Amino acid sequence: MRVVVCPVREFPDGERRIVQAGARSIGVFRVGDRFYAIRNRCPHQGGPLCLGRLAPWATADGPGEVHLDETPSLVACPWHGWEYELETGQSFMGPGETRVKSYAVTVERVPGPYVAETYPVHVEEDVVVVEV
Ligand code: FES
Repeated sequence: MRVVVCPVREFPDGERRIVQAGARSIGVFRVGDRFYAIRNRCPHQGGPLCLGRLAPWATADGPGEVHLDETPSLVACPWHGWEYELETGQSFMGPGETRVKSYAVTVERVPGPYVAETYPVHVEEDVVVVEV
């Protein structure tokens, strides 16, 4: 199934469109010159994922030295704030056990248990199209 979203000129940077593909609601996002499509249903508890705010990755070189990427690449579910990567649908958040024990630390992104469906998006003759 192909879903025509709108002409590129009517889709400004930083905006989103919610489209319907059969029974599926899909959010299409424009970030710079890239387009992403992700299912508008949070895998956590079914919240309207694509109505949430966009957020950049945050990294830290040390305590109090937090850096934010220049462009957003995550969408945060408006219900409980779980964040999903726009490109892959992967969440890196998840419920865990609270512990007070120390361990060795490495810096890596560990995938959480939930992955939202994503869909390819491309531009055909100045029209944004989602492949479902
Ligand atoms: S339903 Fe989306 S974070 Fe809980």
